[in-house]
Amino acid sequence: MNSPFNLENQTEYSNWREYKLSQYPTNNEKLLVKFHKNVISKSDVNLIKELIKKYNFAFYEFESVVSDKELHKFCSKLGLEKSISNLLSDADNISNITNQEGNKDKISGKEYIPYTDKRLNWHTDGYYYPIDSAIKSFLLHCVNPAKNGGENFLLDHEIIYIHLRDYNPDFIDVLMQNNIMEIPKNKNVEGSKNVSGPVFYIDKNNLLNMRFTSREQNIIWQKNDMIKKIKDFIFEFITEEKKYIFKLLLRKNQGYIANNILHKRESYIDGEKKRLLKRLRFSNRIGY
Ligand SMILES: [Fe+2]
Repeated sequence: MNSPFNLENQTEYSNWREYKLSQYPTNNEKLLVKFHKNVISKSDVNLIKELIKKYNFAFYEFESVVSDKELHKFCSKLGLEKSISNLLSDADNISNITNQEGNKDKISGKEYIPYTDKRLNWHTDGYYYPIDSAIKSFLLHCVNPAKNGGENFLLDHEIIYIHLRDYNPDFIDVLMQNNIMEIPKNKNVEGSKNVSGPVFYIDKNNLLNMRFTSREQNIIWQKNDMIKKIKDFIFEFITEEKKYIFKLLLRKNQGYIANNILHKRESYIDGEKKRLLKRLRFSNRIGY
């Protein structure tokens, strides 16, 4: 296997690494694609694909309001056809991310943080799923922004992989172990099982995927001499890093589309109209 993500392939890794890092620094404007009169042209699609090849995400902006159907159409132009549902998504597999205050989980009685106005810490989507049903890409579209806050922070997972590997390749070896991070079963859900898996893994297309949450509760890290050092490294990187982390405050009709990169959200305060973001998730990557 010639994947640069295989620790044995040092030459492939060096070449890929050089290409990847040469794309930085960049800025939000260079990653933004605007759809004139809401029409997504062929060159818009190609530009988004190109940006995603380099950064694993791209920002976009429609001129005016778009329907759910149009959002699906946009995704399908990028090869994203099979959307994934979840317990809270609607009939079109769209999750309406808004503050459902007081609307606690019927089973556990707990608040589900994405559907509040609280801060949502660094994670990749679906880190609690087994890797054979992983989320590989997603779209987040702003219908209505908050009055204050709600910024999104994004970090290409391949960038953190490079920094970990350069610092100590053994870190990658540990993070690729099949049982390094375990999410315990939800005792309140019948049939729920523990989900154990790697942080980094290479899929059948030879691409790198990441399962991660910075949540400290309800996560079991496999005992390993290096795990504390690795976690400290990751937390320092996502807290201190400036060159590779993008801060984005989505305006109405703007959004971002991404392979399953690391991201977080700041807390926010609603105005008269509630903040509403639409989210679509897919089982394949953009362009694959
Ligand atoms: Fe997320």
